[in-house]
Amino acid sequence: MIDKLTVPLGERSYPIIIGSGNLQALGGELAAAGFSPRVALVTNTTVSALYGAEVEKSLRNNGFKVTPVCLPDGEEYKTTETVNSIYDILIREEFDRTSGIIALGGGVVGDIAGFAAATFLRGISYVQVPTTLLSQVDSSVGGKTGVNHPLGKNLIGAFYQPCMVFIDVDTLKTLPYREFSAGMAEVIKYGMVWDEKFFSWIQEHRKRLACLESKVLISCIKRACAIKAEIVGADEKEAGLRAILNFGHTLGHAVENLSGYGEFRHGEAVAIGMLSAAQASQKLGLCSKEQVGILKALLECFHLPTGLPSFPMEEYLIAMKRDKKNRKGILRMVLNKGIGSYKITEISDPEAFFKPFFD
Ligand code: NAD
Ligand code: GLY
Repeated sequence: MIDKLTVPLGERSYPIIIGSGNLQALGGELAAAGFSPRVALVTNTTVSALYGAEVEKSLRNNGFKVTPVCLPDGEEYKTTETVNSIYDILIREEFDRTSGIIALGGGVVGDIAGFAAATFLRGISYVQVPTTLLSQVDSSVGGKTGVNHPLGKNLIGAFYQPCMVFIDVDTLKTLPYREFSAGMAEVIKYGMVWDEKFFSWIQEHRKRLACLESKVLISCIKRACAIKAEIVGADEKEAGLRAILNFGHTLGHAVENLSGYGEFRHGEAVAIGMLSAAQASQKLGLCSKEQVGILKALLECFHLPTGLPSFPMEEYLIAMKRDKKNRKGILRMVLNKGIGSYKITEISDPEAFFKPFFD
């Protein structure tokens, strides 16, 4: 079963192909789409061991000349140094403007490889082959690429769209459960700010999702990607609407930054951030206590954390000041209106606003 949808961006529109057991069809799909025959297959040590050979074979069988690029595994390697190491290989191997990059892995590999593609020779084509739930429902779609800076997450980057997103949900079978549930945080995010019906669907299908039933996974990923495609199609560079995809990220990024990018998975930090955002919404009368409880219960179904780790409030405030959504030094947060809708709100006195969260 293969499903296809489109990210509608005019002449830069691209397909998202979602299937089960379709990884070996990647080479044929890319050849049919006329993708560059000279490619770097960027992945990491973990994903390479699982899927590198199958993907390389599929590419070579379809006439691609492949240079494998294997990165160390971990968010701590999402740095400009790692991007430099990719440039080194591309330059040594005489890649030119007609060459391409294939990113095979989770969000970390996708963000790094996408940024290398965006910047090498001022931009070469790339394809996303996401292998974590988080990357299949969120990071591979929409063209946000980049790396972290020691002072903050994803501060260095570019908007640069891939030519294709190719998803095989069967890759999730090797994913540790903790990574799966981190991806579910981003899935739940779409329900919270955009689609109440999808939120209820997730509640209803939670057990079948956790059992990785292919049909249910494909439906879930397809709906999540369709929501993201619609939002990105309307606001590619986050002039307004796209910011709602950062629901839970204001405090989530602060959690990641303060805990040093190692302790919490990105999706776990987002889960914590979403519950705090929902509590902020409740404080402003945008949602009920019961709805905050419903969100908490669904996050907990997937064993996601919801409590803010105990760093001093001042440290959270400093980290939140660096959030990319802020304008003229004023903190801007995405809040939920009930379940299924959103409001972007300025918090003019964050210290007073967040104090009760830390008492
Ligand atoms: P990740 O890329 O670190 O992957 C998680 C772990 O799973 C890694 O150890 C990885 O090697 C391993 N892995 C990947 N696929 C596997 C598989 N099929 N089987 C077994 N192991 C596998 O983490 P992630 O959660 O995918 O991505 C998080 C990153 O994505 C963060 O850096 C975050 O900032 C970024 N992100 C970007 C966007 C965007 O729009 N660009 C959106 C959301 C998140
Ligand atoms: N993950 C947020 C975005 O792509 O805009």
